[in-house]
Amino acid sequence: MDLTGFTLRKVNPEYSLKPFDCGDQDLNEFLTQKAIHYRKELLAVTYILENEDRTIAFFSIFNDSVRVQEKDFASKSAFKKFLRQLLTYPKRHLEYIPAIKIGRLGVCSQTQKSGIGKTIIDFIIAIALKLNDECACKFVTVDAYAQSLGFYERRGFKYFSENDAGKDTRQMFLDLTLYSNAVESS
Ligand SMILES: CC(C)(COP(=O)(O)OP(=O)(O)OC[C@H]1O[C@@H](n2cnc3c(N)ncnc32)[C@H](O)[C@@H]1OP(=O)(O)O)[C@@H](O)C(=O)NCCC(=O)NCCS
Repeated sequence: MDLTGFTLRKVNPEYSLKPFDCGDQDLNEFLTQKAIHYRKELLAVTYILENEDRTIAFFSIFNDSVRVQEKDFASKSAFKKFLRQLLTYPKRHLEYIPAIKIGRLGVCSQTQKSGIGKTIIDFIIAIALKLNDECACKFVTVDAYAQSLGFYERRGFKYFSENDAGKDTRQMFLDLTLYSNAVESS
């Protein structure tokens, strides 16, 4: 998507936010009331995309670690299969996997379904791949709202487990190995 006319900036105390409404009260409130505190406390960095009149979208990201445990799978063989697909290194007993998490993501109601969310995911992937040059990060993760599962599925995100199927949010991940050849080229 062409972002000409939009500015991307990080939330900071010196800058006044422009109006924003993505149709979800919790997300709206996070942006207007909490994002700045999360930044100060080093809990999350929030980016906003805006034009001259309003905030078009925002997202918050932070470092994460995913615990992959047998109990989250239907069977021992399902767990082993998951690890086999994930890790090519033969000793597959890694329990914690480094990640970058999408804590919040919202696109304003008027501009939803015009490619902005997709562009933001691409941007987050680019940040994560850059980070990988200095400090390893295998997944982009998200606790996705039920109504946005299809959006993340389209971007290649997978489910960790079927245990949260039908819940209000589901844990999803995108394997950055699919995008990165950093290890081979370094
Ligand atoms: C979910 C959200 C972030 C998606 O952003 P968006 O800018 O509307 O999405 P895009 O236009 O980039 O859509 C990219 C693709 O996903 C699809 N898509 C978008 N929202 C979808 C949804 N809720 N369910 C299924 N598919 C969806 C689009 O049709 C498009 O498909 P295509 O690649 O085949 O063309 C946005 O709709 C939003 O802010 N919703 C309200 C808040 C919310 O649910 N946030 C998610 C918190 S986890």
